[in-house]
Amino acid sequence: MLVVLAVDLQTAQGPDAKPIPALLTSEEAVRAASAAVLASGEFKAGSCEALLLHSPAGLRAKRLLLVGVGKQAKVSVHELRKAAGVAVRFAKPRGIRELVFALPDNVGPLPAAARAAVEGAFIADFDPDTYRTDRTDRSIERLTIAAARASVAERADLETAIREGVILGESQNFVRELVNEPGNKLTPTVLGERAAEMARSAGLQCEVFSTEKMEELKMGAFLSVAQGSAEPPALIVLRYEPEGVTDGPILGLVGKGITFDSGGISLKSSENMEKMKYDMAGGAAMLGAMRAIALLKLKVRAIAIICATENMPGGRAQKPGDVQTAMSGKTIEIINTDAEGRLVLADGLAYARRLGATHLIDAATLTAACVVALGMVNAGVFTNDEESYAKFASALQVTGEKFWRLPLDEEYAEKIKSEIGDIKNTGGRWGGASTAAEFLRVFAEDTPWIHLDIAGVAWAEEARPFMAKGPSGVAVRSIVEWARNW
Ligand code: BES
Ligand code: MN
Ligand code: ZN
Repeated sequence: MLVVLAVDLQTAQGPDAKPIPALLTSEEAVRAASAAVLASGEFKAGSCEALLLHSPAGLRAKRLLLVGVGKQAKVSVHELRKAAGVAVRFAKPRGIRELVFALPDNVGPLPAAARAAVEGAFIADFDPDTYRTDRTDRSIERLTIAAARASVAERADLETAIREGVILGESQNFVRELVNEPGNKLTPTVLGERAAEMARSAGLQCEVFSTEKMEELKMGAFLSVAQGSAEPPALIVLRYEPEGVTDGPILGLVGKGITFDSGGISLKSSENMEKMKYDMAGGAAMLGAMRAIALLKLKVRAIAIICATENMPGGRAQKPGDVQTAMSGKTIEIINTDAEGRLVLADGLAYARRLGATHLIDAATLTAACVVALGMVNAGVFTNDEESYAKFASALQVTGEKFWRLPLDEEYAEKIKSEIGDIKNTGGRWGGASTAAEFLRVFAEDTPWIHLDIAGVAWAEEARPFMAKGPSGVAVRSIVEWARNW
């Protein structure tokens, strides 16, 4: 199936004149084959709109799929990512297994366009039906990027961009597979095994520790969450040390890996509790980011710490009112055992610093408050360092992911001061995303740090034309791009 993009061109004049969409390819044969349907006005070329033509005259392809990318003035590389996804999700249920994507030559630099299209195709190929016994694999078998106007000199750049797109798309899907796994299948131990397996194939160093090592490190905050569960926790440590890179920053990627969050003694209500299997999405994002960083051979050192445990209300579970001593030595009064993500991250951030990280980034499905503030559209981003944030903001321009900056402030920090200890693990009802971020800031100390609250966007409640519903794999691409910017 040949996939061709079209824009909604508003050039028509007069009250009765219909705007006729324009193709984003100059191939004469494609233009001729689609002229009649474009002139009919049946296809408006709106974003994600698709129309299939059979036996297109003058073309070798049996099918020609037109995909709309919206108004011409707004067409971006990100729109191409979506359009490739639309084509894949159109093809899959129809059993179409081979696509040729006509790369438009006037939407951004060709390599960037190719990379985005490949990413979009891989992301769209994912379906979350892992455990359906009637599952039929309808994956796309062959994707060809046709760049008719590319010069010989551009060819090598295009091939590199395509390889990068494959790495990023596959890494995002790797994350989504993990996030999709139910809590009974993906325990902290199993997450550790999956991390080790990935590390072996990507050429990363990996160590997985459990309770004993955490006790040795005095990770009192992380252990306080794990003690309520019969499943042992996993402290997953990945290292990427590219050859010849001996100075410059060491990036520290820290992920929340709660494989199931029941709330602990401060038990959640049963409504939607099954969704709390995705409370390890931040940790999974860090695994996916490390996979991509290694396979892309980025010239920057990186460490990842994934703090994996269940949060359960067992007989040995911590209780509201308990006081815990974190690895850094700070004491924490537990107000609500459901505010467990910040506890495991407190020790994860401290450990990343101890291992030499000079720049921290964490990702976590941390607060419902962030979902209230930003809905399921944007994730939240917080920082104590403008230089690091600028690199993240410019990464977002490349990846098209939506993050919205939210504030840190001394007045939020006031809300988590404790009477009995240094800080408490909740800051009251209002501004919950910011008080949680202030809690983490205590453990980032003076190290440049970015915090990503992905609670609202790690799981898509609804399918989109370019992506299945379920685990989104958000943040992977942006973290990798941020790493590339160092
Ligand atoms: N994992 C939850 C946050 C969450 C909520 C993620 C909804 C995804 C969707 C987190 O551990 C949590 O329970 N946070 C509490 C904190 C509160 C007790 C201060 C929350 O946000 O309600
Ligand atoms: Mn919780
Ligand atoms: Zn949680």
